[in-house]
Amino acid sequence: MKIFLDTADIEEIRTAARWGVLDGVTTNPTLYAKVGGSYDAILEEICRITSGPVSAEVVAEDLEGMLTEGRHFAKLAPNIVVKVPMCETGLEAIARFAEEGIKTNCTLLFTANQGLLAAKAGASLLSPFIGRLDDINQDGMEVIRELVSIVELHDLESEVLTASVRHPRHVTEAALAGSHIATLPFKVLQQMIHHPLTDKGIVQFRKDWEKARAEAAAKR
Ligand code: G3P
Repeated sequence: MKIFLDTADIEEIRTAARWGVLDGVTTNPTLYAKVGGSYDAILEEICRITSGPVSAEVVAEDLEGMLTEGRHFAKLAPNIVVKVPMCETGLEAIARFAEEGIKTNCTLLFTANQGLLAAKAGASLLSPFIGRLDDINQDGMEVIRELVSIVELHDLESEVLTASVRHPRHVTEAALAGSHIATLPFKVLQQMIHHPLTDKGIVQFRKDWEKARAEAAAKR
Protein backbone atom coordinates (compact mmCIF):
# COMPACT_ATOMS: atom_id res chain seq x y z
CA MET A 1 0.00 0.00 0.00
CA LYS A 2 1.32 3.42 -0.94
CA ILE A 3 1.64 6.00 1.82
CA PHE A 4 0.78 9.62 1.15
CA LEU A 5 1.03 12.48 3.62
CA ASP A 6 -2.16 14.46 4.17
CA THR A 7 -0.62 17.88 4.76
CA ALA A 8 0.54 21.12 3.16
CA ASP A 9 3.38 21.46 5.68
CA ILE A 10 6.65 21.40 3.72
CA GLU A 11 8.81 20.34 6.67
CA GLU A 12 6.59 17.35 7.41
CA ILE A 13 6.78 16.33 3.75
CA ARG A 14 10.58 16.73 3.65
CA THR A 15 10.88 14.60 6.80
CA ALA A 16 8.72 11.76 5.47
CA ALA A 17 10.68 11.86 2.20
CA ARG A 18 13.95 11.52 4.14
CA TRP A 19 12.48 8.51 5.96
CA GLY A 20 12.00 6.87 2.55
CA VAL A 21 8.29 6.19 3.03
CA LEU A 22 6.65 8.97 1.03
CA ASP A 23 4.76 7.97 -2.12
CA GLY A 24 2.73 11.16 -2.60
CA VAL A 25 0.87 14.01 -0.92
CA THR A 26 -2.73 15.13 -0.58
CA THR A 27 -3.71 18.70 0.27
CA ASN A 28 -7.07 20.36 0.72
CA PRO A 29 -8.26 23.91 1.52
CA THR A 30 -8.31 23.18 5.27
CA LEU A 31 -4.74 21.85 5.26
CA TYR A 32 -3.62 24.81 3.12
CA ALA A 33 -5.30 27.25 5.56
CA LYS A 34 -3.11 25.85 8.36
CA VAL A 35 0.09 26.95 6.58
CA GLY A 36 -1.09 29.93 4.47
CA GLY A 37 1.00 31.72 1.82
CA SER A 38 0.76 30.98 -1.89
CA TYR A 39 -1.01 27.69 -2.64
CA ASP A 40 0.76 27.54 -6.02
CA ALA A 41 4.18 28.00 -4.43
CA ILE A 42 3.44 25.32 -1.84
CA LEU A 43 2.29 22.87 -4.50
CA GLU A 44 5.38 23.53 -6.63
CA GLU A 45 7.64 22.97 -3.62
CA ILE A 46 5.86 19.72 -2.71
CA CYS A 47 6.24 18.53 -6.31
CA ARG A 48 9.98 19.22 -6.10
CA ILE A 49 10.20 17.02 -2.98
CA THR A 50 8.18 14.07 -4.31
CA SER A 51 7.67 12.76 -7.82
CA GLY A 52 4.56 10.91 -6.57
CA PRO A 53 1.03 12.24 -7.06
CA VAL A 54 0.29 15.56 -5.34
CA SER A 55 -3.39 16.41 -4.97
CA ALA A 56 -4.48 20.04 -5.35
CA GLU A 57 -8.12 20.73 -4.60
CA VAL A 58 -10.46 22.98 -6.57
CA VAL A 59 -12.79 25.24 -4.56
CA ALA A 60 -15.03 26.52 -7.37
CA GLU A 61 -18.53 25.08 -7.33
CA ASP A 62 -19.36 25.72 -10.98
CA LEU A 63 -18.02 23.68 -13.90
CA GLU A 64 -16.07 26.42 -15.65
CA GLY A 65 -14.51 27.48 -12.34
CA MET A 66 -13.48 23.89 -11.52
CA LEU A 67 -12.00 23.43 -14.99
CA THR A 68 -10.10 26.73 -14.84
CA GLU A 69 -8.65 25.95 -11.39
CA GLY A 70 -7.81 22.36 -12.28
CA ARG A 71 -6.11 23.26 -15.57
CA HIS A 72 -4.09 25.88 -13.71
CA PHE A 73 -2.96 23.34 -11.07
CA ALA A 74 -2.12 20.75 -13.74
CA LYS A 75 0.30 23.20 -15.36
CA LEU A 76 2.27 23.66 -12.13
CA ALA A 77 3.97 20.24 -12.27
CA PRO A 78 3.54 16.93 -14.11
CA ASN A 79 2.67 15.03 -10.92
CA ILE A 80 -0.26 17.24 -9.89
CA VAL A 81 -3.59 15.44 -9.49
CA VAL A 82 -6.64 17.69 -9.41
CA LYS A 83 -8.86 17.00 -6.42
CA VAL A 84 -12.57 17.41 -7.17
CA PRO A 85 -15.44 16.96 -4.69
CA MET A 86 -18.14 14.38 -5.34
CA CYS A 87 -21.20 16.18 -6.70
CA GLU A 88 -22.99 16.39 -10.04
CA THR A 89 -20.76 19.20 -11.29
CA GLY A 90 -17.70 17.45 -9.85
CA LEU A 91 -18.44 14.31 -11.88
CA GLU A 92 -18.74 16.38 -15.05
CA ALA A 93 -15.45 18.11 -14.27
CA ILE A 94 -13.76 14.74 -13.67
CA ALA A 95 -15.03 13.49 -17.04
CA ARG A 96 -13.75 16.65 -18.79
CA PHE A 97 -10.37 16.43 -17.06
CA ALA A 98 -10.11 12.77 -18.12
CA GLU A 99 -10.70 13.78 -21.76
CA GLU A 100 -7.90 16.34 -21.40
CA GLY A 101 -5.50 13.81 -19.85
CA ILE A 102 -5.56 15.53 -16.44
CA LYS A 103 -5.58 13.10 -13.52
CA THR A 104 -8.14 13.58 -10.77
CA ASN A 105 -8.76 12.54 -7.19
CA CYS A 106 -12.46 12.45 -6.29
CA THR A 107 -12.79 13.59 -2.70
CA LEU A 108 -15.48 13.66 -0.02
CA LEU A 109 -16.64 10.11 -0.78
CA PHE A 110 -18.74 8.48 1.91
CA THR A 111 -20.24 5.50 0.05
CA ALA A 112 -18.96 2.86 -2.35
CA ASN A 113 -21.59 3.99 -4.88
CA GLN A 114 -20.08 7.46 -4.96
CA GLY A 115 -16.69 5.85 -5.57
CA LEU A 116 -18.08 3.70 -8.37
CA LEU A 117 -19.47 6.77 -10.12
CA ALA A 118 -16.21 8.68 -9.71
CA ALA A 119 -14.30 5.75 -11.21
CA LYS A 120 -16.70 5.57 -14.16
CA ALA A 121 -16.31 9.32 -14.77
CA GLY A 122 -12.55 8.76 -14.98
CA ALA A 123 -11.07 9.66 -11.59
CA SER A 124 -7.64 8.12 -11.01
CA LEU A 125 -7.99 8.24 -7.23
CA LEU A 126 -11.08 7.60 -5.09
CA SER A 127 -10.96 9.12 -1.60
CA PRO A 128 -13.44 7.82 0.99
CA PHE A 129 -13.22 9.72 4.29
CA ILE A 130 -13.26 6.98 6.88
CA GLY A 131 -12.62 9.01 10.05
CA ARG A 132 -15.57 11.30 9.40
CA LEU A 133 -17.82 8.24 9.02
CA ASP A 134 -16.48 6.75 12.25
CA ASP A 135 -17.21 10.14 13.87
CA ILE A 136 -20.92 9.69 13.14
CA ASN A 137 -20.97 6.08 14.32
CA GLN A 138 -20.72 4.47 10.87
CA ASP A 139 -18.05 1.99 9.83
CA GLY A 140 -15.72 3.97 7.55
CA MET A 141 -13.58 0.91 6.81
CA GLU A 142 -16.59 -0.91 5.36
CA VAL A 143 -16.65 1.64 2.52
CA ILE A 144 -12.98 0.87 1.83
CA ARG A 145 -13.67 -2.87 1.79
CA GLU A 146 -16.65 -2.45 -0.56
CA LEU A 147 -14.93 -0.04 -2.92
CA VAL A 148 -11.73 -2.13 -3.16
CA SER A 149 -13.90 -5.17 -4.01
CA ILE A 150 -15.79 -3.23 -6.66
CA VAL A 151 -12.59 -1.89 -8.25
CA GLU A 152 -11.07 -5.39 -8.35
CA LEU A 153 -14.23 -7.23 -9.43
CA HIS A 154 -14.81 -4.90 -12.36
CA ASP A 155 -11.18 -4.24 -13.30
CA LEU A 156 -11.58 -0.49 -12.81
CA GLU A 157 -8.44 1.54 -13.36
CA SER A 158 -8.93 3.81 -10.34
CA GLU A 159 -7.09 3.39 -7.04
CA VAL A 160 -8.76 3.54 -3.64
CA LEU A 161 -7.16 6.16 -1.41
CA THR A 162 -8.14 5.83 2.24
CA ALA A 163 -8.50 9.37 3.62
CA SER A 164 -9.51 10.99 6.90
CA VAL A 165 -7.21 8.60 8.74
CA ARG A 166 -7.16 9.26 12.47
CA HIS A 167 -4.91 6.59 14.01
CA PRO A 168 -2.44 3.80 13.12
CA ARG A 169 -5.08 1.07 13.36
CA HIS A 170 -6.87 2.70 10.42
CA VAL A 171 -3.68 2.23 8.37
CA THR A 172 -3.35 -1.48 9.21
CA GLU A 173 -7.01 -2.09 8.42
CA ALA A 174 -6.82 -0.14 5.15
CA ALA A 175 -3.78 -2.18 4.09
CA LEU A 176 -5.54 -5.44 4.99
CA ALA A 177 -8.62 -4.33 3.05
CA GLY A 178 -6.47 -3.89 -0.05
CA SER A 179 -6.64 -0.10 -0.22
CA HIS A 180 -4.10 0.99 -2.82
CA ILE A 181 -3.12 4.12 -0.90
CA ALA A 182 -3.65 5.66 2.54
CA THR A 183 -3.07 9.34 3.15
CA LEU A 184 -1.94 10.11 6.68
CA PRO A 185 -1.56 13.11 8.94
CA PHE A 186 2.14 13.40 9.88
CA LYS A 187 1.25 12.56 13.49
CA VAL A 188 -0.17 9.17 12.46
CA LEU A 189 2.98 8.42 10.46
CA GLN A 190 5.05 9.14 13.59
CA GLN A 191 2.73 6.99 15.70
CA MET A 192 3.29 4.10 13.27
CA ILE A 193 7.05 4.28 13.83
CA HIS A 194 7.01 4.17 17.59
CA HIS A 195 6.22 1.37 20.01
CA PRO A 196 6.99 1.57 23.72
CA LEU A 197 8.88 -1.74 23.62
CA THR A 198 10.93 -0.57 20.62
CA ASP A 199 11.82 2.72 22.31
CA LYS A 200 12.59 0.93 25.59
CA GLY A 201 14.67 -1.70 23.74
CA ILE A 202 16.81 0.97 22.03
CA VAL A 203 17.61 2.55 25.42
CA GLN A 204 18.41 -0.85 26.96
CA PHE A 205 20.72 -1.88 24.09
CA ARG A 206 22.60 1.41 24.42
CA LYS A 207 22.95 1.00 28.19
CA ASP A 208 24.18 -2.62 27.87
CA TRP A 209 26.61 -1.64 25.12
CA GLU A 210 28.09 1.19 27.20
CA LYS A 211 28.34 -1.05 30.27
CA ALA A 212 30.19 -3.77 28.30
CA ARG A 213 32.55 -1.20 26.75
CA ALA A 214 33.30 0.32 30.15
CA GLU A 215 34.03 -3.14 31.62
CA ALA A 216 36.31 -4.02 28.69
CA ALA A 217 38.15 -0.71 29.06
CA ALA A 218 38.62 -1.30 32.80
CA LYS A 219 40.23 -4.71 32.08
CA ARG A 220 42.81 -3.25 29.66
O1 G3P B 1 -7.59 14.66 2.67
C1 G3P B 1 -8.55 15.10 3.56
C2 G3P B 1 -9.03 14.10 4.53
O2 G3P B 1 -8.04 13.20 4.84
C3 G3P B 1 -9.74 14.77 5.68
O3 G3P B 1 -9.39 14.32 6.94
O4 G3P B 1 -9.35 14.42 9.41
O5 G3P B 1 -10.30 16.35 8.12
O6 G3P B 1 -11.52 14.20 8.26
P1 G3P B 1 -10.19 14.84 8.25
